[in-house]
Amino acid sequence: MKTVIAGGLVWYQGSLRRLDLSINEGKVEKLGPELDRTGAEVVDASGLWVLPGAIDPHVHLAESMAGVSTADDFFTGTRSAAAGGTTTIIDFCEPQPGEAPLVALERRMQQAEDAIIDYGFHFAFTEDYARQLECIGRLWDAGITTFKAFLAYPGLALTPAALYAVLEAVGARGGMLLLHAELGDVADLLRNRYLGQPARAHALSRPAFVESAAIELALGLARAAGTRLYVVHVSSAAGLLALERARSRRQKVHGETCPHYLEFSTGHLEGPGGAAFIMSPPLREPEDAAALWQGLKSGSLEVLATDHCPFPLEAKLGPSSFDAVPNGVGSLGLRPSYLFSAGVYGGRLGLGEFVRLTTENPARLFGLWPQKGMLAPGSDADLVLWDPSATWTMSQGHQQGGEDHSLYQGMEFAGQVAMTMARGDVIYCRDRGVCAPAGRGRYLVRGLPSPILRESRGARLG
Ligand code: URP
Ligand code: ZN
Ligand code: ZN
Repeated sequence: MKTVIAGGLVWYQGSLRRLDLSINEGKVEKLGPELDRTGAEVVDASGLWVLPGAIDPHVHLAESMAGVSTADDFFTGTRSAAAGGTTTIIDFCEPQPGEAPLVALERRMQQAEDAIIDYGFHFAFTEDYARQLECIGRLWDAGITTFKAFLAYPGLALTPAALYAVLEAVGARGGMLLLHAELGDVADLLRNRYLGQPARAHALSRPAFVESAAIELALGLARAAGTRLYVVHVSSAAGLLALERARSRRQKVHGETCPHYLEFSTGHLEGPGGAAFIMSPPLREPEDAAALWQGLKSGSLEVLATDHCPFPLEAKLGPSSFDAVPNGVGSLGLRPSYLFSAGVYGGRLGLGEFVRLTTENPARLFGLWPQKGMLAPGSDADLVLWDPSATWTMSQGHQQGGEDHSLYQGMEFAGQVAMTMARGDVIYCRDRGVCAPAGRGRYLVRGLPSPILRESRGARLG
């Protein structure tokens, strides 16, 4: 069945244009003024913008931390994604102690069978990295071209030598290494000074230099190895500055931040509900958030991802000491709405930046472009009908996933998802909610990361 999205303003080649868009067999077929509608199902997009479906390259579904399971599995998490206009996610394949990489991949594939949108995996190295590196070719053949290393967390933190070995192996294939940039040993030392204290101590135990020093270390090693580095969840002005310096040396480096670092600060960790705001790296100061917004505007930060890793409120608020609280918060269903409202509507970003940060840049960097991340003939028909003039207030009723609370509760948003389509299927609409069955998502075999076109400089860098 052919579908024509008619009467909307379509995001095409960097601007909104009055075009119809036809879909056939899950792909965008044509764009043009007043396309032939004979025999087609027509979706009236009058008053709406037609944007490419957003891509979230940093989520944690069906995981556990400190013995607590995340509030979202692949079904509930991808439901909330669909409701928020996200049509692709990339999660992680992180082996459990003693688990072989391909067994871990098989396990994650099974867990993801219920996803309603398309998904891929980054492979996360653990302290068993040497054995895992022996399997890198088979992981690559399975469509994994991006890998992750941690410098913090017991069982995951790599030494500098291990990080260098991983960088060399990933770089030899043209892959990209994602980095959780915190010096775990330093964080552990500081944690021991604050044991037994409530949530605010989490930020004191992981100050900004713990992040920026980790970034500096990894940048030096990645430069020597010649490997493309992507720093996940950049939280501080100091961390961003380290990235910017490397960028000015023309190093192949990319940075991501998350909605919580833009919206909240250490003050939110105070008081009885403060532990709900615990994630790592921790919340920073308002000046850091201002620097991150500036980084998104200037292109120093190229991706807004969620690092979606929510836990039930009871698990967050139960422990009396900050170090026993499972780390992570959720926003998978809110990321595009948040960036549109606080960024575009708030006058900090243009619509082009919004689309690049949530959609185009992740598609390019994570080897999905041009299948995903754009609306052009031959691309997957993943799209969002966006209502730029709607306003709404976040309430429990908007949660389409498994979270029992939201840090964004009561927040007012400008702009709203009216409909989400993925490979031509309507998977969400405002009046009916999510309308896609478990298991409609497909695993994505991803290609090589490709550089981002930096429009402002008119040149391909990195
Ligand atoms: O606190 C966080 N960020 N939890 C998720 C795991 C990670 O470090 O990304
Ligand atoms: Zn992390
Ligand atoms: Zn994460």
